[in-house]
Amino acid sequence: MPASPTATHEHIKDVNTRYHDAAAEEYDAKWGIDFGEVGQRQVRLKLVKALGGLKGRCFGDALEIGSGTGYFSLNLVQLGAIERLTATDISPGMLQRLAATAEALGIEGVTTVETEAEVLPFEDESFDLVLGHAVLHHIPDLDRAFAEFRRVLRPGGMIAFAGEPSRYGDRLAALPKRAGLALAPAWRRAIGAHVRSTPEHEQSEGHSLEGEVDVHAFAPADLRRLLKNAGFEQRRVGGEELLSNAWGWGLRTVESSAEPESISFGWRRFAFNSYIALQKVDTKVLEPHLPAELFYNLLVSARKPA
Ligand SMILES: C[S@@+](CC[C@H](N)C(=O)[O-])C[C@H]1O[C@@H](n2cnc3c(N)ncnc32)[C@H](O)[C@@H]1O
Repeated sequence: MPASPTATHEHIKDVNTRYHDAAAEEYDAKWGIDFGEVGQRQVRLKLVKALGGLKGRCFGDALEIGSGTGYFSLNLVQLGAIERLTATDISPGMLQRLAATAEALGIEGVTTVETEAEVLPFEDESFDLVLGHAVLHHIPDLDRAFAEFRRVLRPGGMIAFAGEPSRYGDRLAALPKRAGLALAPAWRRAIGAHVRSTPEHEQSEGHSLEGEVDVHAFAPADLRRLLKNAGFEQRRVGGEELLSNAWGWGLRTVESSAEPESISFGWRRFAFNSYIALQKVDTKVLEPHLPAELFYNLLVSARKPA
């Protein structure tokens, strides 16, 4: 459920800060975030799809918006696609996790700055890349945010965002979630998993805010308009993940009904491999041929005129 249409911008930002602060500690485990080879391969694929290619390109100064625990940007630094990273977020809890992960992985050149996306505390023309993953749909005033992205970019700099929910995909995801709920008891019996004693949505106080943090689901035309109004050129909007996402939501729904320790390694391996196999079908067969609006996630990129 999205935020109420009458919610003020300040309320939405306050709820996002509190929700993500409460979620920060368990965030990586909940979403299966990986900072090794698997995570790096996933984010590289996303950046390649967003930009339409990467070809060994390295961005000197990158600014991440809503960086959370660092899934997108820390993996890109490890891959050598980013040299110096400024990671920003409205939630200090998320940034603390990101900084701890960067330190544990021995990643250098990372600065964290607590800020909202609509007012960025950086000089004009400070960055070569402004990027983000799964963040635009939380930002109340996107026209203002995109104007800020353009302002802080150097001439010729790029923006790249991935993981944004499409309007149609958001509705589509409701089906596997419903199917997962219906099948969960039979699935637990089949793999010998135990029913979860505390439902996931009751595990942290922040979960009561879950329905209020999302503000938008996009049609590709909405994103094209934002890019155009902010004065970007070489505008690209694409879609990714259809089969893999539907399957992924089904898997997540059944798995969240069981005590995590009672889910066998064999099942987890099957779930991961089947997801990756479907992602390959999406990437090779469906994404090049179907319209962007059909997919669950949208990707955006554009260039600031030189
Ligand atoms: C769904 S999480 C994604 C985190 C991370 N990018 C990832 O993919 O794992 C969204 C992030 O955006 C941040 N956020 C929400 N509203 C924001 C705003 N107005 N300005 C900046 N960050 C915001 C949240 O605190 C959260 O860390």
